[in-house]
Amino acid sequence: MTLQLLLQNPPRLHEDPSGKLTSWQISDAVLNFLNKHVDSNSVTLETGAGLSTVLFATKSASHTCIVPDLKLIRRIQSYCNDNQISCNNIAFKAGISEQILPSLELGSLDLVLIDGRHAFPTPFIDWYYTCEKLKIGGMMVVDDTQIWTGAILKKFLLSEPEWKLTADLSSKTAIFVKIKDYSHSKEWLDQSLVINKSRYSIMASKINRGLEALRQGNFGKIFGKAANPT
Ligand SMILES: C[S@@+](CC[C@H](N)C(=O)[O-])C[C@H]1O[C@@H](n2cnc3c(N)ncnc32)[C@H](O)[C@@H]1O
Repeated sequence: MTLQLLLQNPPRLHEDPSGKLTSWQISDAVLNFLNKHVDSNSVTLETGAGLSTVLFATKSASHTCIVPDLKLIRRIQSYCNDNQISCNNIAFKAGISEQILPSLELGSLDLVLIDGRHAFPTPFIDWYYTCEKLKIGGMMVVDDTQIWTGAILKKFLLSEPEWKLTADLSSKTAIFVKIKDYSHSKEWLDQSLVINKSRYSIMASKINRGLEALRQGNFGKIFGKAANPT
């Protein structure tokens, strides 16, 4: 099935709190982007599931989909079955990404779509456990950057030299290419966004601690800590 056909009559795969079927699908712009950049040689992973999962299936990508909602998995499988779309290449991992990802054995990935839980700190956990597996030249798709958690992840990746923004779609999805190996062993002083965002609070903290030391007449404490960055 082509993306055009899929979008003409998209299935309602999600369920709202009242039990009504609906679709929380990713934007058409992102689906078009995935359609163009994913093929049967791609190794991909997404957190969350829905129409994007059906698209990965149509592309025959070797795809891992992490989602806790078993009924959603069944709906995706039955939609694919009814529409002669093979799900053979989709490895569904039923559970929350925060628990599945830390022990999931992953090979090299060409593309990661982060679109599961958007609450703090899940998008960061999803990024943390997948980014080292992403190949150089691979893509990290961060959805819902209009939400604070997605916005912070986007800002952070914009500030790190290992990532390059390649597309910013519908003002809500940032797509980064990994251009160099990324190491989680970096310290906060190696991360320019953390330094910049901490500058004023570090200064305020130093002033408050200096005033406190002055009140106590502890001059050694004021001058002795001058070399410490915090
Ligand atoms: C916005 S929807 C995903 C939409 C999908 N990409 C599409 O195109 O239709 C978010 C999904 O995240 C799933 N989800 C919620 N919490 C999760 C978690 N902790 N880990 C993984 N998936 C989660 C929900 O079940 C839901 O399917």
